[in-house]
Amino acid sequence: MTKRRARHVPRSEEPPSVPDSHAADPLSIAPLRIAIAGLGTVGAGVIRLLETNRDLIAARAGRPIEVTAVSARDRAKDRGVDISPFAWEDDMTALAARNDVDVVVELVGGADGPALALSRAALKGGKGLVTANKAMVAHHGLALAEAAEAAGVALKFEAAVAGGIPVVKGIREGTSANALTKVYGILNGTCNYILSEMEETGADFAETLIEAQKLGYAEADPSFDIDGIDAAHKLAILAAIGFGARIDFDAVRVNGIRQVRAADIAQADALGFVIRLIGEADVEEGEGGPCLLQRVRPCLVAKNHPLAPVDGPTNAVVAEGNFSGRLLFQGAGAGDGPTASAVVADLIDIARSEVSAPFSIPVARLAALPPAEPGHRTERTYIRFTVNDRPGVLAEITAAMRDADVSIESLIQHGRSREGGEVLVAMVTHEGPERCVTRALELLEGSDSLTDPPLVLPILS
Ligand SMILES: NC(=O)c1ccc[n+]([C@@H]2O[C@H](COP(=O)([O-])OP(=O)(O)OC[C@H]3O[C@@H](n4cnc5c(N)ncnc54)[C@H](OP(=O)(O)O)[C@@H]3O)[C@@H](O)[C@H]2O)c1
Repeated sequence: MTKRRARHVPRSEEPPSVPDSHAADPLSIAPLRIAIAGLGTVGAGVIRLLETNRDLIAARAGRPIEVTAVSARDRAKDRGVDISPFAWEDDMTALAARNDVDVVVELVGGADGPALALSRAALKGGKGLVTANKAMVAHHGLALAEAAEAAGVALKFEAAVAGGIPVVKGIREGTSANALTKVYGILNGTCNYILSEMEETGADFAETLIEAQKLGYAEADPSFDIDGIDAAHKLAILAAIGFGARIDFDAVRVNGIRQVRAADIAQADALGFVIRLIGEADVEEGEGGPCLLQRVRPCLVAKNHPLAPVDGPTNAVVAEGNFSGRLLFQGAGAGDGPTASAVVADLIDIARSEVSAPFSIPVARLAALPPAEPGHRTERTYIRFTVNDRPGVLAEITAAMRDADVSIESLIQHGRSREGGEVLVAMVTHEGPERCVTRALELLEGSDSLTDPPLVLPILS
């Protein structure tokens, strides 16, 4: 990892000498002055954290961190924190032009729109940027990193991946001596909550989602989470950092959890597995050079795997390094406290004048890795069919498997619900190439024996 001294210079004063927390009272050193855009869950959490831990933050940062200005939509809203000491901007982009601001903290959200406009303006104006916005980093991270590098300022986004877990720093700095072989994990708390609740209660997906929405674990529009997009944003960021690759969100293969039924969870349990939404990325040697495989999909995870006990809204990331071995990062993936903790840790780094390449190496040297084609990769697979309960259906499915060279390890037909109704047929395949399972499903496409598209869940090795 390249490290150099920050070139950020507060506009209204001489640059503070690099703070030395052993030499001077940190409270007497010029503060790092920040502006916060977005005063919702995370923004208010950051203000609360800076207030509560003021002295220890100053001691560790070598100087105080002070909020000077804020912006949100509604100035009058009660946010549970006192914002009266801070200057207010109706237009959040104006924060980037203020002379009393060294670093802009973007906690608004959205890949484009005002969050992006503010972030661009901040970096262009020579201010550091801290953001928790995974959508924006996944889509525009490279351009923002280029702008940060050009201005010699920091761009940091620890909170954008797995909330309070210091996994960006852990991978960018803690594993920087390693060639990573694989990065994978549970990156979305909403999906993990739903899947582990289904496991706990035996309830089906739809009713568990409604319960999760009531409890605040799922948004009113939950599609970003349950369709795997949020996890894909985070995975793309981790893959870029972990493999020194240009971020490529569009190349992430994404499957969400809508199709998972209570019966799948029960079947997985009987086989010794739990179901988790897993984001995974690795690099393989293709014909034309290295390729990057990134995918998000529900997987069967053996109950003795370190990711199996990760339940509720918790996140966990595994990084496998060629010298470090397997590292597990686990903790709260969201919430005001954990997310604020990650945001303020970034601010402390900036206050210490740490400016490193946002994606671990400078943008110009990040590799443009083409997406890998996984068809030749081998895995064991759980496949669940919902079929019309009539003679010959099992024979049709097993014939397709035979014709596609898929070897069946076990096959379970769930009891008949009602004469002529729908039944579930689940199978586990022996380890074999993914393309064979794909071919078998193609052979069954359009079959009037199937009442729904089959659900294919790989078994995490
Ligand atoms: N919540 C978490 O646990 C969590 C975890 C990790 C990362 N993040 C990320 O952190 C960011 C913020 O999330 P959050 O949960 O704090 O969101 P939130 O509670 O919805 O807060 C968003 C804030 O942005 C303000 N805002 C929205 N649109 C605006 C606009 N056009 N102009 C000015 N202000 C605007 C809102 O103003 P008003 O309050 O006046 O409406 C609100 O204060 C997102 O990128 C999210 O993905 C969140």
